[in-house]
Amino acid sequence: MSRIDLGDITRNNLGQVRVLHKTLFPVEYKDNFYNELLEAGEFAKLAYCNDVCVGTVCCRKEFVDEQVKDKFKIYMMTLGVLDPYRHLGIGTKMVQHILEQAKSSNITQVYLHVQINNTEAVDFYKKNGFDIISTEQDYYKNITPRDAYLLAKNID
Ligand SMILES: CC(C)(COP(=O)(O)OP(=O)(O)OC[C@H]1O[C@@H](n2cnc3c(N)ncnc32)[C@H](O)[C@@H]1OP(=O)(O)O)[C@@H](O)C(=O)NCCC(=O)NCCS
Repeated sequence: MSRIDLGDITRNNLGQVRVLHKTLFPVEYKDNFYNELLEAGEFAKLAYCNDVCVGTVCCRKEFVDEQVKDKFKIYMMTLGVLDPYRHLGIGTKMVQHILEQAKSSNITQVYLHVQINNTEAVDFYKKNGFDIISTEQDYYKNITPRDAYLLAKNID
């Protein structure tokens, strides 16, 4: 039986978060991306399988409307699990954690982008209640295909 836990991102394990991102994603993330995670609280987590660090979810809290600063939405910047640890429910555990946190924090929506050829991720998000809202042409500048789906889930 695998034990799955979620843990905080701290200064001491930020290097682990970097290694996971370099391994999992074709996009390069800059220092300010990693440093901002230290302020994200429950919206940025590491995932452990039997105490081994195998995944991460990183979100950013945003204003729904820049003029009205009391309503927030969550942008899921990255979500990934190392290949040998996929299909164990770890991705689902991380997404459900973010949705639960959103529900208890006056958040109206969780949204994200996925490269259009990433069918595994699109299916995964649909199973977790997200809908494709639109296709954004040339969303990615340095990887192909450049188009992305915008997916979102409204929070009751
Ligand atoms: C998308 C991603 C995060 C999913 O992570 P995951 O840990 O494999 O997700 P889960 O295990 O929760 O769900 C995946 C599948 O396993 C199944 N599953 C969940 N628990 C299971 C279990 N105990 N036993 C067998 N299967 C299980 C799910 O039903 C789901 O089935 P499906 O593939 O038929 O849809 C992972 O594929 C990934 O890291 N991809 C690369 C990075 C990426 O593209 N991220 C998204 C864009 S940022």
